[in-house]
Amino acid sequence: MKRFWVGSIPFTFVLSTLIFSCQSEAEIEYQRYFIQGRNIYQTQCKNCHSENGEGLGELYPPLKEADYLRKNKTQLACTIHNGQQGLIVVNGKFYNQKMPSQTQLSPIEIAEVITYVTNSFGNKQGIYQVEKVNVDLGNCKE
Ligand code: HEC
Repeated sequence: MKRFWVGSIPFTFVLSTLIFSCQSEAEIEYQRYFIQGRNIYQTQCKNCHSENGEGLGELYPPLKEADYLRKNKTQLACTIHNGQQGLIVVNGKFYNQKMPSQTQLSPIEIAEVITYVTNSFGNKQGIYQVEKVNVDLGNCKE
């Protein structure tokens, strides 16, 4: 029994080191997505959705604490890549304008800007990885 405990110390050490380094790698990846995403947001989205994600009156819907982001997780890549028009409801308010397509953005840039938007302005959805962009773009509603 004693031997078991002594022997398990290095094992526990190795295991906790592994878990720790895994977490920090994931954290680093998340930070990278987030920071790149913020740059993209500043140049491509801020003009309409505003610096703090509040949108603009009845024209541009908010991203701030937006229930739409949670309810339409798998359609966000489509909204960005293809643009969007038609009546939508965000936080109980109606919007019906045209968002132009953002075809200049590569899949990784779409993933980064989604990660930024869904983890800023009071949202907290975690990382949205590039692999999901292609899957989600294959399932766009229109
Ligand atoms: C020219 C203005 C404009 C730009 C630039 C723009 N959007 Fe939009 N966006 C809109 C409009 C208008 C809508 C609402 C479309 C509708 O009525 O169906 C919208 C809707 C959305 C929605 C869904 C509704 C919501 O508020 O959650 C998301 C998410 C979104 N935009 C993200 C982005 C991101 C990310 C970028 C930058 C890559 C961006 N938009 C760039 C105008 C814009």
